[in-house]
Amino acid sequence: MLPRLKYFFFLFIFLSFFSISQFLFRKTPFFIHSPNSDLKKKPVHLLVVSSWRSGSSFLGQIFNHHNDVFYLFEPGHSLWMKFSGESSELLHFPLRDLLRSLFTCDVSPLRQYLHKGGKHISELGFFAESRALCTPPACSAFMPTEGYDRLKCYYRCRNTSLNKMAESCKTYSHVVMKTVRILDLSVLLPLFRDPALDLRILHLVRDPRAVALSRKSFTLNIEDRIVLKSDGNTNITISRVMKKICKSQVDINNVAKAAEVLQGRYMTIRHEDLSNEPLKHIKKIYSFASLYLTKNLEQWVYNITHKEVEGIMTFSRDSSKVVQKWRTALKFNFVKQIQDNCKEAMDLFGYRSVRSEEEQQNLTLGLVNQE
Ligand SMILES: *[C@@H]1O[C@H](CO)[C@@H](O)[C@H](O)[C@H]1NC(C)=O
Ligand SMILES: *[C@@H]1O[C@H](CO)[C@@H](O)[C@H](O)[C@H]1NC(C)=O
Ligand SMILES: *[C@@H]1O[C@H](CO)[C@@H](O)[C@H](O)[C@H]1NC(C)=O
Ligand SMILES: *[C@@H]1O[C@H](CO)[C@@H](O)[C@H](O)[C@H]1NC(C)=O
Repeated sequence: MLPRLKYFFFLFIFLSFFSISQFLFRKTPFFIHSPNSDLKKKPVHLLVVSSWRSGSSFLGQIFNHHNDVFYLFEPGHSLWMKFSGESSELLHFPLRDLLRSLFTCDVSPLRQYLHKGGKHISELGFFAESRALCTPPACSAFMPTEGYDRLKCYYRCRNTSLNKMAESCKTYSHVVMKTVRILDLSVLLPLFRDPALDLRILHLVRDPRAVALSRKSFTLNIEDRIVLKSDGNTNITISRVMKKICKSQVDINNVAKAAEVLQGRYMTIRHEDLSNEPLKHIKKIYSFASLYLTKNLEQWVYNITHKEVEGIMTFSRDSSKVVQKWRTALKFNFVKQIQDNCKEAMDLFGYRSVRSEEEQQNLTLGLVNQE
């Protein structure tokens, strides 16, 4: 009897040691059933929420250049163009469904919104903005030494199928998308209770006066009509659109602060802070997204913020000087209109109003509150 007990004792010791070591090295022991049978960690899903002309393309590029990220630029664009007579409020719901599907690498809803039925990624106007769509496994038209080149990608990767895009998506640990088409965050709340998702919201805001200036040289007729549609006003002006957009930025922040499911899953970033100290903020953003900042990426950030790099959206021109450009380029009357329409947003996000043309023109007077 005794040798047998000894045998069980050693077996017990062995199994305990085995399971502790398995626990420590985070592998599932063979005798414990894992509901997640493929043992893969759930991918991280991050949505950059912003508005037009707020620097979200650049922020998107910061994710796009990370090797672990499958990034899509404005996947809601084709949906809005397909239903351009509708309101942003109505389009929120198909957009939510589209985002949810794409986060889980399901491209089927997207096909319905593309003009040729979604055969090739070239139907997505901005496919070359996605490094993941310009490199293997989605596109094999490049030598490993060539790296990501959006212009060459535009010509060489057009024929990638949407199926291939979906397959490629599944190989990444992070799926990131950016959208300017969410004006009400409460629409997305069900996604935070979805067990298939690990969703985080990065909310990018910018000084409304700088946004208004940028809008003056960039027409967004279709988008503005959709944004203002439900207000029944057909006379679309920049200051009316800005009023609605500013209100939506405040609402998004309020929903995020009130919703328990968003605790630790929501972060705001100001365009001005990112412009003035890119590396510092990129570190914060990556940490929020559970991404590592590699030496190579750090070098890349340095490059794009200090010199113009071919093939990459230049940010150097968009730095601290551009933050102030509206102060000399806009008339005080117009500035006042924007300030009146956006007062709540400006107070909330830390932008100070000017009371006179003198204050507006006095560039030593800082108008962005310290963090
Ligand atoms: C894509 O397909 C079209 C039509 O089959 C073909 O003419 C074109 O050369 C292809 N382009 C590339 C880059 O493979
Ligand atoms: C549109 O609104 C602006 C500003 O309120 C006004 O000056 C203009 O006359 C209006 N245009 C039309 C066609 O109603
Ligand atoms: C940064 O720029 C230098 C010099 O132009 C270049 O040699 C290097 O490859 C660049 N690095 C990255 C990561 O873009
Ligand atoms: C500009 O603003 C600074 C800082 O508030 C102030 O000290 C200075 O007197 C102002 N200059 C003029 C010309 O008003």
